[in-house]
Amino acid sequence: MAVTLTINGKTIEADRERSIFDQAEFLGIDVPTSCRKQGKCRECMVEVVEGMQLLSANTEPEKHLKGDFRLSCQTFVTGGSGVVRCHTMRRGHMRIERHALGLPGSGAPMKLDPAVTRDGDRILIDGIEVERSTGPIHGIAMDLGTTTIVLRLIDLETGELVADASFENPQRFGGSDVMSRISYDTDHPGRLLMRTLAGYLSHAIEKFPVDPKTIYEMVVVGNSTMRDLFFRQSVYSIGQNPYRATTSLVESGRRALLPIHPKARVYGAPIISGHVGADAAACMLAVDMAHEERLVAVMDIGTNTELILGNKNRILAASCPAGPTFEGGAIACGMPALDGAVEEVAIDDGGKFHLTVIGDAAPEGICGSGLVDVLSELLRTGRMNEMGRFAHDSHRVTLDQEHDIYLLESDVNELAQAKGANVAGLHVVFSSYGIEFDDIDVFYLAGGFGRHLKVVASKRIGLVPDLPSAKIVQAGNTAIEGATIALLSKSKRQELEDLVKKVEHCRLETHPHFFDFFVEGCQFKPVEPIPCAS
Ligand code: FES
Repeated sequence: MAVTLTINGKTIEADRERSIFDQAEFLGIDVPTSCRKQGKCRECMVEVVEGMQLLSANTEPEKHLKGDFRLSCQTFVTGGSGVVRCHTMRRGHMRIERHALGLPGSGAPMKLDPAVTRDGDRILIDGIEVERSTGPIHGIAMDLGTTTIVLRLIDLETGELVADASFENPQRFGGSDVMSRISYDTDHPGRLLMRTLAGYLSHAIEKFPVDPKTIYEMVVVGNSTMRDLFFRQSVYSIGQNPYRATTSLVESGRRALLPIHPKARVYGAPIISGHVGADAAACMLAVDMAHEERLVAVMDIGTNTELILGNKNRILAASCPAGPTFEGGAIACGMPALDGAVEEVAIDDGGKFHLTVIGDAAPEGICGSGLVDVLSELLRTGRMNEMGRFAHDSHRVTLDQEHDIYLLESDVNELAQAKGANVAGLHVVFSSYGIEFDDIDVFYLAGGFGRHLKVVASKRIGLVPDLPSAKIVQAGNTAIEGATIALLSKSKRQELEDLVKKVEHCRLETHPHFFDFFVEGCQFKPVEPIPCAS
């Protein structure tokens, strides 16, 4: 009797004598490791999406793992017959936004004013010598997301992008959202989340086409939990008001366990509150909020959706814990936006589905923009109603029979709740500011997901306000853009430090109409204007 083993979309008949790691290697899959399969580095994780019951029991080195994660070097196929499907933490093929779009000043060369400078053969950080070398000077900007991590390697003397990388946050074994990561970190001493991340980051940095020791500074942005886990802060009190560690954080490359120059400075940008992180702060830098006179909104849809509203005179910010569904998490056929992900869906007059797949590959799953598209198309063609119920009492819609790509009604429920949280956040922030959606001059849809959404589809299902399309700017990853600006300019970094002190944090859950807004937002229909209710 045979077990079919599929790893990262490649399939073989499972060999019971060899670990999943060995079989992945046989398939030519690069599994992260620093311990040569000894069960010590915890880097060879795989997420099992099917057939967990056909695998050997968890071993001692896997005690720290929750959910469907296993260490591939410890795991063997033992079951009689069936299918095992798993994948390594995805890396290297994520779709990366190299430039933010439509931002104030984008396209114009930026005035370089980095903290790392050269004086002959002396390399200085803020004027203090850290190395003697005539070699290049590099820095890294990092957006440390709950689900995805993006790195940019920058030449600090020219401002040029040298390389970039993106991969799934390996801390997912501690839970998919920030609350579960906080509870995991609290319950598991030893900084397991931070150490696992450091291992993955080290591999990514070592793959860059430069000597890692020429990297002298790193600017880190991310939500408050991700940033503070990385800087070994206790995250237990995040969410309590006031959260104490809102200022910027600094440590050395050595202490950060990274292969960069040991005296490199690792700078964690300031956060706005325990709820609104350094990624939102970086967004403000990217959209030049300090000098903006128009009324602008920034919505960065993610596991935590960040909302910023205002201009140089007054800024409100909020964070909605929407969950990972729009990044493909908690959806039966969901996956991140990488090769094999369905990113566009259309239904023709004959009811046939037409799918566009990233990388022109065979479809393996559906990413966020594909999910928005399929919801919009089901709604447009009457196959789903505003409450998210499928027609004809069906609970499943098949998009691609051959590759078994489908959407369940229970997936739609998950997406409805994530959308409800986002819409409630929009209503609370706008009503707290005392304005209507129409009063806004520019609505930035930020983030990799926001960049690839179809605006018409997003408005149809009510994910974004029903504004004239000319006001909506799909800006790309403004958080990494802001981190890059802070890396390249000391004065801009100071501007960021000053800006966060001016921001008013809007606490969504204390708003008297939050629940009404949430319920309204769970429906798939254009977002209604709501009377100001501050
Ligand atoms: S390879 Fe290091 S734990 Fe599996």
